[in-house]
Amino acid sequence: MATVIRDAQAADLEAIMSIEQECFTSDAWSIETMNSELLAPHTHYLVAIVDDSIVGYAGSSQLPGASQADIQTIAVKPNQRGSGIGKALMVALTQEAKRNGAKEIFLEVRADNTVAQKLYKLFGFKQIGLRKHYYQPDGVDAFVMKTALIDDVVLEPLVLGIETSCDETGIGIVRGNTLLSNVISSSMDLHARFGGVVPEVAARAHLEALSPVLEQALREAGVSLEQLDAIAVTNGPGLAGALMVGVGAAKALAVATGKPIYAVNHLVGHVGADILDQGKLTVPTIALLVSGGHTSLLLVRDLLNDVQLLGETIDDAAGEAFDKVARVLGLAYPGGPEIDRAALGGNPAAVRFPRGLTLPKDMAEHRYDFSFSGLKTAVARHVELAESRGEALAIADVAASFREAVVDVLVSKAIAACLDHEIPRLLLGGGVIANARLREVAIAKCAASGIELRIPPLSLCTDNGAMIAILGSQLVQSGYAPSTLDFSADSTLPVTTIQS
Ligand code: KG4
Ligand code: ZN
Repeated sequence: MATVIRDAQAADLEAIMSIEQECFTSDAWSIETMNSELLAPHTHYLVAIVDDSIVGYAGSSQLPGASQADIQTIAVKPNQRGSGIGKALMVALTQEAKRNGAKEIFLEVRADNTVAQKLYKLFGFKQIGLRKHYYQPDGVDAFVMKTALIDDVVLEPLVLGIETSCDETGIGIVRGNTLLSNVISSSMDLHARFGGVVPEVAARAHLEALSPVLEQALREAGVSLEQLDAIAVTNGPGLAGALMVGVGAAKALAVATGKPIYAVNHLVGHVGADILDQGKLTVPTIALLVSGGHTSLLLVRDLLNDVQLLGETIDDAAGEAFDKVARVLGLAYPGGPEIDRAALGGNPAAVRFPRGLTLPKDMAEHRYDFSFSGLKTAVARHVELAESRGEALAIADVAASFREAVVDVLVSKAIAACLDHEIPRLLLGGGVIANARLREVAIAKCAASGIELRIPPLSLCTDNGAMIAILGSQLVQSGYAPSTLDFSADSTLPVTTIQS
């Protein structure tokens, strides 16, 4: 479960006090002391939240302009320890001190609190002094510890991302929000003769591709594994066997190098890809993700905290529909580009193919969901009918009409989501974005509705490791604790689970 770190507010006092008492029993601060520290202008208090409840807090103080900060306290509920929450709080406090110009951080810790000392040592703290009988009433000594802040490893983390959820083995490396390398090896050709991705073939291809792709990504970025600050990996959703290869590789790398690991959601990675292009993501935004594996409409209020699934396909994915219809029309795989080519000069209004889940009775229950299997069947019927009548098939017209039906539904539902939620922003992602007609219609309809449209470059829209690296980098920059190694590949990971 992901940990969220945010600034403490006066309303958090009660929850903080209950943890204070649980953690420090005999020398817990009084509620008055805690309250005045929380509200003091020179202090900075944070709370850690898991499952909507406060499970830890930490505070530091730093006078304006001072190059020294002091960590005053840090506490994590005993039943939540060991999952990186203390570390996440420390990362956030350290970042804040750096932002305020601190060059050194000091703290005092009970001589008998070895758990806390271990955490501080992880952050480079060394003992520089001893205060005898400092803690009352039990007279325990205090160790005085100090760390010097070296320039930014955490604010501009070097993160490697591994993506193997479908047929692309992708490894990307970013520093902060900057793309350093993005290497992809696709097993698409191996699937061509089957007319769709074969999971076992994809998993095997990932195994073979990972090592060379990793080497190339490091070489192109000009970095070594030892320099990384973190490793991010897609752990779902996707093909189970394919995901497992990436997850296994990422864990092995993390253990071998001692680097923290972040298990992240593939779909949220697609949204994060915009940061690689723009340097930032403007939220809230609606996102339409269309590929061979997914057709999802998302409402993103916060990339790391608040992503909702508005709707998705109830049968085939949009790309899959292109692939299947291409087959019906005797075209090659992948079908998207083939249909685009075949549709050249065709009349998109020649055949009125059905628009799935757009009738009033469907819109009540499936306003933002998609269905393409009826459309696929309608194209197949159309082809059969022409054959049975001995008529020549007007391929360009059929391809153009089919494409129009897909594009029409995708764009109308995405725009409806923007208007319904009063969010004048739409982000596109996934391999189907390569479709020229889709881009054209989206641009025109968004402009007509006053919606700002974002289309990252295609190399960032198709599955890639850089989008996973950038999502990992956001988590590190925001002080999220790494995932613990017990996460696993989850082929049906919900989009609300941004980090596992
Ligand atoms: O995101 P992506 O590269 O990978 C996976 O889904 O794994 O998307 C590939 C899908 C395929 O189904 C392909 O047919 C579709 O994107 N696609 C297109 C076009 N180019 C690729 N669909 C429509 N029009 C295109 N020009
Ligand atoms: Zn994808």
